[in-house]
Amino acid sequence: MKIEDCKILKFPKILDERGNLSFLEEGIHIPFEIKRSYWIYDVPGGEIRGGHSYKVNQEIIIALSGSFDVVLNNGSSEKIVSLNRSYYGLYVPAGIWRHMENFSTNSLAFIVASTEYSENDYERDLNQYREEIANA
Ligand code: TYD
Repeated sequence: MKIEDCKILKFPKILDERGNLSFLEEGIHIPFEIKRSYWIYDVPGGEIRGGHSYKVNQEIIIALSGSFDVVLNNGSSEKIVSLNRSYYGLYVPAGIWRHMENFSTNSLAFIVASTEYSENDYERDLNQYREEIANA
């Protein structure tokens, strides 16, 4: 899996003096069928979330509020993507190791996912992940 397959998506932005509005639609802005959404919030300073990869699940990670960094790793290269605008999303395909760090106070990470939650879809062991990549 290539790190370049992790792409920034830009959602529509309707500027309005009353407040801005953005949106996403499954068939138009999202490259998969949405099966689940979840969000991460109230992250204490210095905490790290999401240290794992998925076997099948694809995701789009959006900083709905505040900012945080997504650290992407495919076993051979690493890339850090800072998210700090609610109209950008980071597409992460299956097979990429990622974690989120550097959460600002009151940040809100919103994630749309292509599969329902399944613990079996997680690879949580970085050494195991590296081994699988090396043997692939
Ligand atoms: P997890 O994805 O492991 O978070 P992180 O990778 O940041 O450590 O999720 C934490 C817990 O929440 C885990 O026990 C499973 C549960 N969970 C669900 O029940 N449904 C979900 O959609 C998600 C994402 C997590």
